[in-house]
Amino acid sequence: MSVIVWWLVTVVLVAVHSASARVVELDWEVEYKFWWPDCKEGIVMAINGQFPGPTIDAVAGDIVIIHLTNKLSTEGVVIHWHGIRQRGTPWSDGAAGVTQCPINPGETFTYNFTVDKPGTHFYHGHYGMQRSAGLYGMMIVRSPKEKLRYDGEFNLLLSDWWHQSTHSQELALSSSPMRWIGEPQSLLINGRGQFNCSQAAYLSNEGKRQCTFRKNDQCAPETLRVRPNKVYRLRIASTTALASLNLAVEGHKLEVVEADGNYVKPFTVDDIDIYSGETYSVLLRTHSFPTKKHFISVGVRGRKPNTTQALTVLSYIDAPESARPSLPPPVTPRWDDYNRSISFSNKFFAAKGYPPPPEKSDEQLYLLNTQNLIDGHTKWAINNVSLSVTATPYIGAIRYGLNTLSYLKSPAKELVKSYDITKPPVNPTTTKSSGIYKFPMGIVVDVILQNANVLKGKISEIHPWHLHGHDFWVLGYGDGKFRPGVDEKKYNLKNPPLRNTVALYPFGWTALRFVTDNPGVWFFHCHIEPHLHMGMGVVFAEGVDRIAKMDIPDEVLGCGLTRKWLMNQGRH
Ligand code: C2O
Ligand code: CU
Repeated sequence: MSVIVWWLVTVVLVAVHSASARVVELDWEVEYKFWWPDCKEGIVMAINGQFPGPTIDAVAGDIVIIHLTNKLSTEGVVIHWHGIRQRGTPWSDGAAGVTQCPINPGETFTYNFTVDKPGTHFYHGHYGMQRSAGLYGMMIVRSPKEKLRYDGEFNLLLSDWWHQSTHSQELALSSSPMRWIGEPQSLLINGRGQFNCSQAAYLSNEGKRQCTFRKNDQCAPETLRVRPNKVYRLRIASTTALASLNLAVEGHKLEVVEADGNYVKPFTVDDIDIYSGETYSVLLRTHSFPTKKHFISVGVRGRKPNTTQALTVLSYIDAPESARPSLPPPVTPRWDDYNRSISFSNKFFAAKGYPPPPEKSDEQLYLLNTQNLIDGHTKWAINNVSLSVTATPYIGAIRYGLNTLSYLKSPAKELVKSYDITKPPVNPTTTKSSGIYKFPMGIVVDVILQNANVLKGKISEIHPWHLHGHDFWVLGYGDGKFRPGVDEKKYNLKNPPLRNTVALYPFGWTALRFVTDNPGVWFFHCHIEPHLHMGMGVVFAEGVDRIAKMDIPDEVLGCGLTRKWLMNQGRH
């Protein structure tokens, strides 16, 4: 009898399990479109005619299949699923030149991967500066047994917008001398901003015109409609090309509960900093007294701002349509108050239930971040190498043993030791390379990012570093030069937060730890688009012998030397 009961239970469980492993299958077409993101006409990269692209809504364990058709007439395209680790499918990571060839105009490529854990994520173009051009959207992976309690949720995808086309920006950045693109003209919330008017003009004497929107205006802000006495989850992601941001909701506190798809020990703040590549969930408790409207503001930090705040409105459900917020939008904290930024970063700890990181690391990789010159062209370099991604995808070069890769060793410990990070580089000349760092499987790696002074003046910039294929533990931040043997003692090894993006502060260092448990080729780079374009990244080849045996679909590798290789085998 009991055997039969157990058998029944097993059958039911198996049925429930397979019923929940859904397939989310989507057909997407990427094309350029005229659009009015900030009430001024521009050109965006749209997906299925939408900007930003459609939100992917999946449940942890789902298989996501996206048939991506390139409808651009003259350029390739790829999409990276930012925050998805791509376990077992590294060729679906969508990084051009690293994990696949760009998809040619007119062709369709199928991404196929499992979203293995819940979290707030996004996706974006990862070829040239297509992310800046507006190729992005939200990706929500829900937990089948969510432990957070809330009554409703909103997505806020933050970005920055230029009136200069990204093609023109690319050229400007790689010209000699470099022509810097400057600060963005507008900040966008869910693809909507206002360039030449202010929603809050009636509250200030900024001299800006009060915005008037017509129905269906592409730049009209989305209002967040809420009920009193409820809890709302705001899922916030930043896909900015350049700007570091701060977000606040007038009259409301924010309880931070998730960062980059990992739960964190909840803490409550008035505002959050968010760097490009980061995502957060915050819980917002609504007041018990209704009939009010409040501004949500997003402003620039970390660089001297020259961009007006982006605004949208939190509206209690019975506030009249015509009513306006009675109080001005929250003021963004001073842009160069880095102590405030660092103290926000230091509020993050892993939520209960996450195991601590391994106590020791097997390898320490020092990455010195410098600004340099190559033949008069301004570049960013890591350990004196400015990354230039080759036409042959690294994953294919490793898979088929092509001799196109130069692996780097880490000489940087000595480099950091002798380098004066407080001054412009003594010898600013650097070299270009497609060099990559190789790691065996199953080891613990520490990466110590070291910031330094730029080419001129007494300046050091913020760089949000993002790792593909992994979450890592953020072990600590420090000022000045990292001191081996001393600063390790300050690492948080008890409950460091797991993240996929972390800020490197001016003149400081940031230490992180990860385990090489995901064979593949993983980009690790500054998430500021112009910085990456100017060489600010490295590539990790993890488990080279495992990659050499992978079943990589041929359509990933139809370019460069891998195409030749496949043709010689009669496979292309
Ligand atoms: Cu969101 Cu390699 O980037
Ligand atoms: Cu950077």
